[in-house]
Amino acid sequence: MIVAIDGPAAAGKGTLARKLADHYGFAHLDTGALYRAVASRVLRAGASPDDAAAAAREAEALTGTDLRASDLRTERVSDAASRVATVPGVRAALLEFQRTFARHPPEGRPGAVVEGRDIGTVVLPDADKKLFVTASAEVRAERRWRELAAGGAAVTLAEVLKSVVERDRRDQERAQSSLRMAAGAFLLDTTKLDIDAAFDAAKAFVSGQN
Ligand code: DC
Repeated sequence: MIVAIDGPAAAGKGTLARKLADHYGFAHLDTGALYRAVASRVLRAGASPDDAAAAAREAEALTGTDLRASDLRTERVSDAASRVATVPGVRAALLEFQRTFARHPPEGRPGAVVEGRDIGTVVLPDADKKLFVTASAEVRAERRWRELAAGGAAVTLAEVLKSVVERDRRDQERAQSSLRMAAGAFLLDTTKLDIDAAFDAAKAFVSGQN
């Protein structure tokens, strides 16, 4: 059983994906973390995230250790991740790993919840269930800002909103694997839903009740 979850930054995909995976006993893959880890490597190597050759090289060299880098959720890496994600060589380098994870989940789990931007459209178009999770840019920025502020980051809500809008634009406008809703996906708008309500709606969809 493969559940694909796509949607823009800070829409609540991560929390929802983790809760669904826990509930069904499925494995969980946050594919954004792969792009973030590539970005983190590029920055560490002193290269520009707009340098396509450097980004593709770092994607090909990615290891499990990179996924545990401490800077993955910082604004600097978030911004760089949305840049390296526009490079076709980066996307190609990460494709097989994502497919293998979903089709042969670790620890013999009976399914996988895979979240990202292009999971239902490109990575796993044959997924059993597809969700598109979104919320208004203002609500997403506020959620992200609360998270950052709780972690002690000195950043204003206006700055976070600007960065969310900029990342949306880059995710939607890139030539390859741009963010869009897959045919047959269930649209879950969490603008007015708390996490419990969003989880209930997602669970009902995955279980085939709506
Ligand atoms: O979901 P996230 O914010 O952690 O993703 C980080 C960046 O990676 C984001 O700008 C879009 C990109 N991404 C992508 O292009 N394709 C995916 N499947 C997942 C993330």
